[in-house]
Amino acid sequence: MNVGFALVLLWSLPITSVLAELPQPQNLTLLTLNTQYVLTWDWDQTTTGNAVTFTVEYMAKYKMKMKKDWSLVCDRTTHTRCDFTGSNLTYIGTYMLRVRASADGVNSHWVCIEFCPDKNALLGPPPRVELAPAGNQLNVTISDPLTSTQGSMKKHVISLYYRILYWSLSDDPQGLKPKVVDSSNNLVMLPEQEAWTWYCVIIQSRYDYYNKTSGYTEPQCMQTEGDTPYGQIFLYFLVSMVVCFLLVLLPSYAFFRFYRVLKNTFYPSIQLPAHIQEYLCDSSPGSDMPRLLTADSEAELCCDKLTICPEVVLLEIHLPPPLTAPPSELEQDSGRHIRQDSGDSGIHSTEGGSAQQGCSGREPIRTDQEVDSWQTLAQVKMEEMGRDVIMKVQYF
Ligand SMILES: *[C@@H]1O[C@H](CO)[C@@H](O)[C@H](O)[C@H]1NC(C)=O
Ligand SMILES: *[C@@H]1O[C@H](CO)[C@@H](O)[C@H](O)[C@H]1NC(C)=O
Ligand SMILES: *[C@@H]1O[C@H](CO)[C@@H](O)[C@H](O)[C@H]1NC(C)=O
Ligand SMILES: *[C@@H]1O[C@H](CO)[C@@H](O)[C@H](O)[C@H]1NC(C)=O
Repeated sequence: MNVGFALVLLWSLPITSVLAELPQPQNLTLLTLNTQYVLTWDWDQTTTGNAVTFTVEYMAKYKMKMKKDWSLVCDRTTHTRCDFTGSNLTYIGTYMLRVRASADGVNSHWVCIEFCPDKNALLGPPPRVELAPAGNQLNVTISDPLTSTQGSMKKHVISLYYRILYWSLSDDPQGLKPKVVDSSNNLVMLPEQEAWTWYCVIIQSRYDYYNKTSGYTEPQCMQTEGDTPYGQIFLYFLVSMVVCFLLVLLPSYAFFRFYRVLKNTFYPSIQLPAHIQEYLCDSSPGSDMPRLLTADSEAELCCDKLTICPEVVLLEIHLPPPLTAPPSELEQDSGRHIRQDSGDSGIHSTEGGSAQQGCSGREPIRTDQEVDSWQTLAQVKMEEMGRDVIMKVQYF
């Protein structure tokens, strides 16, 4: 009976193992970025109703022939992914990764995938890009892509470099024909830029040995600075001049013009032409022309006023006083006083006015009258002027 049981067991073992064999995980894929590696796989849930777990291991490829132990990364996980990031895989090493499914105490076959980070892991774009205007150029400060331990990827990828695409927002808003600069430096001064222009920049990490290229960073835009061109300064000057003119001078000018128009309207500086004035003064009764003035006396008055007389110069009127000849210095003094008076006091203006009105018939001042006027003047002088004058007048 023991033997029979053993035989049954022997017979049934291969059959059960065949029947219970689980399908392998499928479509092994590595999701990588810099030094972050995640192995994923597909599993058809309809294969088994029970909970399935997966076991993931890895081994350096060179150890395969030595039949060394596999390193366990994920033990009986229920997820269809396993993170290798913490496994310290050497970046330039080549590894064999394997995964199998387990359900109801039955394991699937291992599924292997070869993985070399240097060759297969994707490169990330610079995590940070800073633009700063440096005169009429832009300085681009590029942060290296980071490893899982926040180190620079240049530690692993020595020949990492950056491709910088930049374009002027005004000339090429869509960035269809960007300028290209390759540099492995973290501080790049973009060439061929213009002052006071907006530029947009996108950057890509590149590694030529395995033709690796990252995605591009988000576009970042910045305006260049630079010395203000002299032409621009002149333009600003002109514009400010025009604005000043418009704001200040134009209203003043308009006001002045308005004032001039008013003045010319009510106080015309140009007299009417002589023939028109004659016509206006024409008072002959036979004339059937319209007349402004109807009264004959007024017309005569008007014509009288039009009579042109030679202007009487005040100073020439005054002859030496007819009295007993005073000392010559008094004569000069008095003459001077008169001249001064004509300048600052109104005494002579009345007299001058009468002299000018002489054209209406009065004769220029006679010497007799002049003596009176001199005496009057002397009295006024005494009141107005200092003691010197008084003394002179007394002497006079
Ligand atoms: C594996 O990938 C192929 C193609 O993408 C797909 O048709 C298949 O369904 C995937 N396998 C599983 C188990 O999802
Ligand atoms: C990976 O290296 C870090 C330090 O470099 C260490 O703390 C960690 O245990 C290592 N992980 C493995 C799986 O060896
Ligand atoms: C721009 O970069 C240059 C070197 O490329 C450096 O000499 C200069 O100081 C930088 N200017 C600014 C404003 O960062
Ligand atoms: C990289 O690309 C070039 C052409 O684009 C090709 O000739 C070369 O073989 C590629 N190298 C690798 C490692 O894929």
